[in-house]
Amino acid sequence: MANTRRKMVAGNWKMNGDTALLSLFKAQLKSPENVDVVICPPAVYLSESMGADFAVGSQNISQHESGAHTGDISVAMLNDLGVTYAIIGHSERRQDHGESNELIGEKVNLALNAGIKPIFCIGEPLEVREQGTVFAYVQAQIDAVLDACGEQFFDNSIIAYEPIWAIGTGKTASPEQAQEVHAFIREYLSEKNEAAQDLRILYGGSVNASNAAELFAQADIDGGLIGGASLKIDDFTVICQAAN
Ligand code: 13P
Repeated sequence: MANTRRKMVAGNWKMNGDTALLSLFKAQLKSPENVDVVICPPAVYLSESMGADFAVGSQNISQHESGAHTGDISVAMLNDLGVTYAIIGHSERRQDHGESNELIGEKVNLALNAGIKPIFCIGEPLEVREQGTVFAYVQAQIDAVLDACGEQFFDNSIIAYEPIWAIGTGKTASPEQAQEVHAFIREYLSEKNEAAQDLRILYGGSVNASNAAELFAQADIDGGLIGGASLKIDDFTVICQAAN
């Protein structure tokens, strides 16, 4: 069966960028006809990001709905602005903030309940790849989220496979290495729910203007989650076009 999944390219600005960069992106970035383009700026710029030719996502959400949680941002606030996506479980939040698989499951569930589309991140560190246990590692990450969300996971979620050793290192997974894990993820999820055939699985980790097209041409790679190259308007435009 032909793959009818619409491609997505999401830019994760991480803790980078400023109002000048945002103005440039708002003025110049266009979503190609067949691609969902999303920019995930730091939270302080979310409001200012609205109203452009791209969708907007947050880089994190609170697991709490409201109240005494200083520094946190709720899904209700994202809905209030019209933010449609949220990156959840990025490896940098797992590392910097000790986010566990279980906490990430709660957050993905909360996002889905609120109508925010989660970009749920998984991926292994180098040791796990060297030990040859990548599938078991990502399966455990997925299982925790399925336990928390149940079948609703399959309605509006996006998965981003980001091998940690490829993030910000310039060491991209080869298209074959990435495809192998993407195919595993889709097969594993399809055993649970046929709707996994329609679920978008993005690749992230040193995607750039030169390697994007080859990665996006793989059967189970439905676009990318882009870090460093999403801060450069020309490179990011090329990457969005590569998905078209
Ligand atoms: P880089 O594209 O900078 O490797 O970052 C990938 C990433 O972590 C996106 O979320």
